[in-house]
Amino acid sequence: MTSPWLQLDTVAVHAGRDDLAELGVHALPIDLSSTNPLPGIESGGLSYEAMASGGVPTEGGSVYARLWNPTVARFESALAELEHAEAAVAFASGMAAMTAAILATTGGTGRRHLLAVRPLYGGTDHLLSTGLLGTETTFCAASEVAAAVRPDTAMVVLETPANPTLELVDVRAVVEAAQGVPVLVDNTFATPVLQNPIDLGASMALHSATKYLGGHGDVVGGVVACGDELAAALRRVRAVTGGLLHPLGAYLLHRGLTTLPIRVRAQQASAQRLASWLQAHPSVARVYYPGISGDPQGLVGRQMKGTGAMISIDLRGGFEQAARVTSAVRLFTHAVSLGGVDSLIQHPAALTHRPVAAEARPAESLVRLSIGLEALEDLTADLDRALTARG
Ligand SMILES: Cc1ncc(COP(=O)(O)O)c(C=O)c1O
Repeated sequence: MTSPWLQLDTVAVHAGRDDLAELGVHALPIDLSSTNPLPGIESGGLSYEAMASGGVPTEGGSVYARLWNPTVARFESALAELEHAEAAVAFASGMAAMTAAILATTGGTGRRHLLAVRPLYGGTDHLLSTGLLGTETTFCAASEVAAAVRPDTAMVVLETPANPTLELVDVRAVVEAAQGVPVLVDNTFATPVLQNPIDLGASMALHSATKYLGGHGDVVGGVVACGDELAAALRRVRAVTGGLLHPLGAYLLHRGLTTLPIRVRAQQASAQRLASWLQAHPSVARVYYPGISGDPQGLVGRQMKGTGAMISIDLRGGFEQAARVTSAVRLFTHAVSLGGVDSLIQHPAALTHRPVAAEARPAESLVRLSIGLEALEDLTADLDRALTARG
């Protein structure tokens, strides 16, 4: 635990490292043990029981890697600090984290109804709309949450900014409308650098850690920051169902946190300039970017400290032009995912949002840009050439 008065940039560098000096190391140690020596049958068994029911290791040690891993636990405590949460629980992917959040809030409660504010990442929308986990989901607008809450509603799910249209949702207003039902905010696009959902009253802040937290496109992971009680329920789900984050992934994510503030701010600075430039581009019909569109409630500044580094654009020329632009770029990579040091471009309707119901799917003319750390002039030139390319 770093000191409460330290700035975010300092916490990002130092959090989750309390035991390193005692271990006599400076860099984060990676513990790859799948099993651990037991001090005794009785103490080992008691520790096993504690962890399988969502607790932390006791004197019997960490027993087995599906129950606990110190490299993962260090990343979790760092992320919890950055999110101003009591705890965090890490998973094999963002979708494993979402699955665990659904199971933790519905399992054994008798409540199987979920409320989801669209738009959402296509994978989340897919998981909720299929009811694969035995849940029933009502999709609604943020303003409809109060009327849609039922006695059996277990959780409200929302994203802000939302993938891919960058709409902002007023988290405090949804928390109030949810009338005590836990609200999960997918904070992947904002990161804890720009927004802390727990401070706004949300019960859970979820990340696809694959994106900005890792930041280098080389690790898949997910994490939920929350209070101690929900963390225990999530750890129990993880221990029982096994959606673990691998320690190598946890190491990369924890290392990624140290540069998160500086990356997000630099990427955001380029995105702000690019969004304005795109708005004036003759090939672009509309720019989706907080501050330019999608913030009628004035949430930038009040809820979110910045505007982020994701931009979506509607292209004049529809799907054909989207196909042309995504194959004409040279510096931007045509690929799904986001939040890394290199810029990406993708077509949500064909890819990330393909499973979404037709009425809620993004437009065929929309492409999404994840702005990286390349020089702004080079990114602008690459986009300009691709936007004006003729087939
Ligand atoms: C906003 C958002 N949430 C969740 C996910 C799912 O994360 P993962 O791909 O790590 O499972 C994604 C993936 O793109 C996403 O963009």
